[in-house]
Amino acid sequence: MPLKPKDPRVLSGRRVAARHALVRGRPLDEPTPNRTRSVATLCIDIGGTGIKMIVLDPRGRPISERARMLTPHPAKPAAVLEVIRSMLPAQPRFDRVSVGFPGVVIDGVVHTAANLGPRYWKLYPLERELTTLTRVPVRVINDADLQGYGVIEGRGVEMVLTLGTGLGSAIYIDGRLVPNLELGHHPFKKGKTYEERVMDAELKRIGKKHWTTRVLEALAQVTLTFSPRIIHLGGGNVTHLRGSLPKNVRTFTNVDGMTGGIRLWQS
Ligand code: BGC
Repeated sequence: MPLKPKDPRVLSGRRVAARHALVRGRPLDEPTPNRTRSVATLCIDIGGTGIKMIVLDPRGRPISERARMLTPHPAKPAAVLEVIRSMLPAQPRFDRVSVGFPGVVIDGVVHTAANLGPRYWKLYPLERELTTLTRVPVRVINDADLQGYGVIEGRGVEMVLTLGTGLGSAIYIDGRLVPNLELGHHPFKKGKTYEERVMDAELKRIGKKHWTTRVLEALAQVTLTFSPRIIHLGGGNVTHLRGSLPKNVRTFTNVDGMTGGIRLWQS
């Protein structure tokens, strides 16, 4: 998602510095104390159950502990932004923000939010609102798309699936993202979508063993449909899978996924 030079969201180095000076309460013309400090990225994952954030250095190494707060219900934009605002003071300083959102996001604007309340979020300019809130450049994309950036190898067709409140999905070809795949809402089996078969509510309802069987069925179907070289499987519920996984499947943690917030700025 390269930003064009004329994009109003792209700030010149001086304007970014000016904004930071304001955030930190320094007069604008005072020299920056440490000009060699490397760029720090605040990565935020907005989930149906929790809102997570962590600050990463340019190599994707955590500078802070991962923080987590429950997603408010109803998850209206103002309530979600209020939770994010309340978490910011505990974070180390950051220069830019990467956000994974659980729905279709196009040019920083939300189009769907199946597990948050679609009617609240339709056409919500999340990227713009978070830029106003944090006063640094912000990029927002789908949560699975962002997590995938953290784990893909950049070779051939790679799929990413995340098992959480919903089912996140992403596909990349030689490292290039095809955004907003939304496989979770495609029809799958017994009149249900993929998401309806493997979502967190079903795990709780049917237990780990039967839920694992369903996840394996979904992996088999996805393999037949897309022939991915590899499927990266993440999300909070990945730890509840029982037994071994097919050879083309590799698991990853939420923190691995959040490092996608670095690659987002290189894409
Ligand atoms: C949403 C996706 C999201 C997934 C995981 C689904 O319900 O439609 O956009 O990636 O949940 O959060």
